[in-house]
Amino acid sequence: MSCMAAVSCSQAPSSEIDQKVEALLSKMTLQEKIGQMNQINTSGNVGGMSEAAKRGEIGSILNEVNPEVIRGIQKIAVEESRLGIPILIARDVIHGYKTIFPIPLGQAATFNPQLVEEGARISAKEATSVGIRWTFSPMVDISRDARWGRIAESSGEDSYLASLMGAAMVRGYQTEDLSNPTAMAACTKHFIGYGAAEGGRDYSSTFLTERQLRNTYFLPFKAAAEAGSATFMTSFNENDGIPATANKFVISDVLKGEWNFKGFVVSDWASTVEMVEHGYAENNKHAAELALNAGLDMEMVAGSYLHNIEQLLEEGKVKIETIDSAVRNILRVKFQLGLFENPYAPEQQENQFYKAEYLAAAKQAAEESLILLKNSNNTLPLAQKGQTIAIVGPLADAPYEQMGTWVFDGEKEHTVTPLAAIKEKYGKDNKIIFESGLTYSRDRNMNGVAKAVKATRAADVVVVFVGEESILSGEAHSLADISLQGAQSELIEAIKKSGKKVVTVVMSGRPMTIGRDVDNSDAVLYSFHPGTMGGPAIADILFGKSVPSGKTPSTFPKMVGQIPIYYNQANTGRPATRNEPLIEAIPIEAGQTSLGCTAFYMDAGFDPLFPFGFGLSYANFEYGDVVINKKSYSQDENIEVKVTIKNSSKYDGYEVAQLYIRDHTATAIRPVKELKRFEKVLIKAGESKEVSFSLPVADLAFYNGALEYVVEPGKFSLWVATDSASGSAIELLVN
Ligand code: GLC
Repeated sequence: MSCMAAVSCSQAPSSEIDQKVEALLSKMTLQEKIGQMNQINTSGNVGGMSEAAKRGEIGSILNEVNPEVIRGIQKIAVEESRLGIPILIARDVIHGYKTIFPIPLGQAATFNPQLVEEGARISAKEATSVGIRWTFSPMVDISRDARWGRIAESSGEDSYLASLMGAAMVRGYQTEDLSNPTAMAACTKHFIGYGAAEGGRDYSSTFLTERQLRNTYFLPFKAAAEAGSATFMTSFNENDGIPATANKFVISDVLKGEWNFKGFVVSDWASTVEMVEHGYAENNKHAAELALNAGLDMEMVAGSYLHNIEQLLEEGKVKIETIDSAVRNILRVKFQLGLFENPYAPEQQENQFYKAEYLAAAKQAAEESLILLKNSNNTLPLAQKGQTIAIVGPLADAPYEQMGTWVFDGEKEHTVTPLAAIKEKYGKDNKIIFESGLTYSRDRNMNGVAKAVKATRAADVVVVFVGEESILSGEAHSLADISLQGAQSELIEAIKKSGKKVVTVVMSGRPMTIGRDVDNSDAVLYSFHPGTMGGPAIADILFGKSVPSGKTPSTFPKMVGQIPIYYNQANTGRPATRNEPLIEAIPIEAGQTSLGCTAFYMDAGFDPLFPFGFGLSYANFEYGDVVINKKSYSQDENIEVKVTIKNSSKYDGYEVAQLYIRDHTATAIRPVKELKRFEKVLIKAGESKEVSFSLPVADLAFYNGALEYVVEPGKFSLWVATDSASGSAIELLVN
């Protein structure tokens, strides 16, 4: 399957809808207009919400999921308010509603946008069945810092991968017709730069230049806008001193201006009034003025719009045209959703959740999200019968933790854990021993470790399930130390020292510094919290019923001190040679300049633990020579690339062939590598497959030294390889 940024504007404004918007807007009072710009968090006080709905003060409600309550309030808004404008019901459906898919970082590891789109489609079917028509997803923040807990919700460090994944989710949520009753308006977030938080500390400052925004951080947002995302959400952070929620350049000049975005923009929670804490607004009223004048259309929960816009208008600090523009954008989305014709959720059905096909799709996504990081002596796959297998560790049977962060409606009772799946599917033909040892990921109980070692004595092989409880990643869950918590590393080490063959499975919300654990394991399988069906997925991979195909969507650092670390970094004027002596090898009284004066760490070196795009397989893929059709290209041509990949193993397997380029000399320096295409192909055992790419030279464009979007002539290198650290470069010239 080839992956190109899709361009389909499902929410392109139609003249009929715009006429309806204008007709309705012309009837609205100022209070009714302001009401549409106001989103409330469900208070559980149905009476209070109903009164506000009757007064037309609620444009949207988030976090109400009781279908009867939703229907009741919607009925009042539609039948008892003066103009009957329906309320837009919203929820964070981030990686599933009831059927939980892998966290978005895990979905990115599949390098399979179609699969991600299918997961979003299923999430929308489940959520819309209770009346939810707006989700706060996709999150497309580029993150190069695994200390940041929300890397879990992202698609990782690369703009191209995040662009494809974000666009796929938009398509999955919205379909081609937003008025489809199972369609949910997407909300692309967090605009802008949130993932670059200083120190990986959530909500902290970012310092991104316009060139960095345009060449990296904007790209997945632009792709989501082109895919038709109906709404955008601003971010909590300030960038270069300007809070995103009042950043006119970002919201109005770029999103609504340059990109011609016709949806609406909502704040993130109380990010409007948080501008007082930021030191940017004097008070809540000033915050409302700043946000509205920057182009923020709807305010989430803080109420500063509801309580101040009328006075701001009287004082001449905001214009009615600005208010009308915001209301137009909101009404347009409500008309596109078909809410006026169809405001109510469908009647509740039996078994509308967790359908067999939903669970099958969740298993497939979990399976393709699994990354084989190490497999010495072909430890994996395990023999399917006749063994004594010990299952240990705090994540082997942790149904709640396995779902991962940002799960509000998924139920752990439906989670199938690895222990349950292994017992069910492989327990008949093997002897399965289970001893968790540690009871949760932060558990430091060394008695538990001893108990686990003892329990594994009779085992032929031990599978250790470690990682993170779900609370250890996600919003406001930054970590300064991203190694395994508690005594998990000691657990792995103790079992290894007891002489056992050790397979380690890590279930986490982020890349972790697991070098010590990798050294103590014969095989390592990485699973970003895999969701409801993670157990059967992991079991089938461990026993070889399926073959791993996941690739790292983010670089894995050796040490947290290497962060920020990412594959597409600048070369610097003194790039590491990778021959620098590490700290143990540095001679005593070494001379000041004796280490070579290059950009590396004396203790950690330059390279990460695992690079971006890395993942092993049971299959063995051998790349032939990469061939391009010419040596030099004019700017209107395509670079035709071919490579033959041979699978010399006995396993059928999927390989993600990745195409990278480098622009060697430019008026603003370019990264040492940039992912431009990838192709996930099935290559059967013993067979070869030719993989080809047609890369327009125009795709080599970037914002240059003068901030012009151009392709600059000169020398380029091109790779097609199994990950960002492999392959041989081919040179080409662009004229
Ligand atoms: C949160 C998050 C945002 C989420 C919103 C509504 O604070 O930052 O991603 O969609 O509030 O829950």
